[in-house]
Amino acid sequence: MVTGGAGYIGAHTVLALKNSGYEVIVLDNLVHGHQDLVKNVLQVEMVVGDISDRSLLDNLLQTFNIDAVIHFSAYAYVGESMKEPAKYYQNNVAATLNLLEAMLGAGINKFIFSSTCAIYGVPDIVPIIEGHSQNPINPYGMTKLVVERILNDFDIAYNLKSVCFRYFNAAGADPEGRLGEDHNPETHLIPLVLFTALGIRESIRIFGSNYPTQDGTCVRDYIHVSDLADAHILGLEYLLKGGKSETFNLGNGNGFSVNEVIETAKKVTGKEIKVVKSGRRPGDPSILVGSATKAKNILGWQPQYSSLQDIISHAWQWHQKRHTSKPQLF
Ligand code: UFG
Repeated sequence: MVTGGAGYIGAHTVLALKNSGYEVIVLDNLVHGHQDLVKNVLQVEMVVGDISDRSLLDNLLQTFNIDAVIHFSAYAYVGESMKEPAKYYQNNVAATLNLLEAMLGAGINKFIFSSTCAIYGVPDIVPIIEGHSQNPINPYGMTKLVVERILNDFDIAYNLKSVCFRYFNAAGADPEGRLGEDHNPETHLIPLVLFTALGIRESIRIFGSNYPTQDGTCVRDYIHVSDLADAHILGLEYLLKGGKSETFNLGNGNGFSVNEVIETAKKVTGKEIKVVKSGRRPGDPSILVGSATKAKNILGWQPQYSSLQDIISHAWQWHQKRHTSKPQLF
């Protein structure tokens, strides 16, 4: 069962699961997910419902013969989490706890969890390894860290085996153009840059040009969403083979600055992209780059699309197809 399988990373993972021969059921409340993609592209069974609904979960877990749960459904806007932390703790922590208890009640003990590099806060050293101290600087990151701690305790007490994936900046789209990123509102750099190239946005704001980086703009580790999806298959197989609970960073190991993203997008799209220099966005660390050596060594994960050019080209292919109307923007 894939919760949040109608969302960005969830849908790409469902596609990868199908391609690997797994039978999948999606549970999604469609607050941010896209029913059309599940129906038309993924063509898997989807139950529309919420993970906070215990009787729905009990029913589902008893009706279907579920081996493992891959849990994507969560709120993931850092800025919103600062303004509405209750919403984040309720959905990302309390509802996840509900899901875990329902799983235990149904005798399911394999769980894959979408965590985030936001749990590290401002890193002391990059590339960040999994043992780095964890001091989230926003409620979103804290909700993910709390669930990681719950999973640790549940393993000891209830033998629940989990794989936690700490994603760096998920980006790109299915290389064949079937799926891609479609957030509403959209706040992420690459789609906003491409909306500017498409002309549905006038300009892209650069949040901060005086960071201690090579060109003064923030550096991030952009990781292709299809590579993230592949990691979930490996994580699932690892648990199905009896692997112990583990936590892995999923990143490219390469950092790209905001300026580099914009310059690459200009090359990929062949369009002018108007840039406006703006102040720093609160809560943005200057550099976030992860080491994925552990995932490579233990899971055998090998990202296929690590060039920024590939990531942006795939995203561009998707956005050109998807966006006919102007999305709501921050
Ligand atoms: N940026 C701009 N202009 C924009 C949007 C973003 O300059 O219009 C910059 C940001 O300041 C940042 C970089 O582009 O330096 C990337 O920003 P994103 O919003 O695309 O991604 P974040 O790094 O802020 O967020 C990602 C994930 C979060 C996760 C966070 C951890 O999307 O889920 O990393 O810090 F929590």
